[in-house]
Order: sequence, then C-alpha cells, then structure tokens
Amino acid sequence: MTKPFSQACENNKAPILAVLDEAFAKASKVLEIGSGTGQHAVHFAANLPHINWQTSDVPEHHEGIKQWLKEAALPNLLPPFALKIGEQSIPQAGYDAIYSANTAHIMFADEVALMMAQISTALPPGGVFCQYGPFIQDGRFSSASNEAFHYNLLSRGLGGFKPIEQLIEWAGNELLLTKILPMPANNLCLLWQKQPIN
Ligand SMILES: C[S@@+](CC[C@H](N)C(=O)[O-])C[C@H]1O[C@@H](n2cnc3c(N)ncnc32)[C@H](O)[C@@H]1O
Repeated sequence: MTKPFSQACENNKAPILAVLDEAFAKASKVLEIGSGTGQHAVHFAANLPHINWQTSDVPEHHEGIKQWLKEAALPNLLPPFALKIGEQSIPQAGYDAIYSANTAHIMFADEVALMMAQISTALPPGGVFCQYGPFIQDGRFSSASNEAFHYNLLSRGLGGFKPIEQLIEWAGNELLLTKILPMPANNLCLLWQKQPIN
C-alpha cells in the first residue's frame, strides 16, 4: 500500500498547530478521533513533545497511519486503535485533551451527537476538545464553495456540515464552547472545555 497523503493536511497543519500550541499547552495525553492519513498526528506530536498523542480511526485507515508513524519514529506518538463513533465508545483512559479534524461533516448527526456526549464524559474538568473543520455558523455556510461541498457530501451519502448551535446542544451542560477561531480556507477551530474548570 502506498503511503496515504492529504494535501489539505499539509496546508492546514501549521495554522492548526498554532492553535494547539496554546490550547493544549497544559495537556499531556491527547486522543485524536479520525486520524485519517496520520499526517496531523505526526506534525503535532513532533512539535508538541510534552504530549503523548494517541491516534485512532476506523480499521481501514490503520495501515496508512502506521506507515506515517513508522517513518516519524516519535516516542510520543501511539499507534491507532479502532474507534468508530457509534460502534465503539471513547475510552475513559485519562485523556486530558481530545482533537478531531474534519470528522463532524463526514459523520451522521447521531454519530456526532454521540461523539460530543462521549467527549464530555471522557474529559476531566478543565479538559479541552479542539474540533477543526467546516461548520454552519449562525445558519450560514461560510462560502459558496462550502455550501456546494455540503450538498456534495449529502449526495454521496455522508453526513454533511453541522450547525454549531446543534453541536452545543449535543455537548450538554458540562462541555462548553469557549472559542470559535477562524481558520484558512473557510474552516473553524472550535475549542470546548469541560466544566467546572479547577
Ligand atoms: C475527511 S477525513 C479527515 C481525516 C483527518 N482528520 C484530516 O483532517 O485529514 C474523516 C475521517 O473521519 C473518520 N470517521 C468517519 N466516521 C467516523 C466515525 N463514526 N467515528 C470515528 N471516525 C470516523 C474517517 O475514517 C476519516 O478518517
């Protein structure tokens, strides 16, 4: 199998790292949901050495992720385990931060609802969830191309963009949205924090 490659990951990894640098400054054990190719994991683990970065995804992606991990040979980067929201639950394994990029618009609404609720349960008070991707904000798409992408996803039988208000409802009373950061290419970083903050 040739090593998978995502140009989008190459483009967005630096701006996302700038967010994580601050948001995950106090984190030590991070779970990534939907690692995809593994490129984000390699870049973030290399640049945030205080963090043990745990990859995860559906099994079809594991071989590709492992290729990136093997090449990077980083001591703080852990091989993927199978995590498909809706089939497996997010483990209660002492993660103090969770990261997920470009997953909510692929997943179905019931899966994202589960993901938000399980993240709230899995994080300790003060724990942070960084969620990157395209979303519907104040009832609007951020660009015509994003709107077209949403309908393209639906036509392919995928979940489509989720409204931020809906995510807030699914996250419940303890996982609060603390920041909405604009990112390049009409994406957003949503920063969530589990309450109460100690
Ligand atoms: C568009 S890719 C994004 C991959 C990577 N995070 C990135 O930003 O390039 C969506 C990822 O979500 C994963 N995914 C889809 N449904 C999922 C689910 N129910 N639970 C966990 N991951 C899921 C896919 O396997 C895929 O790796």
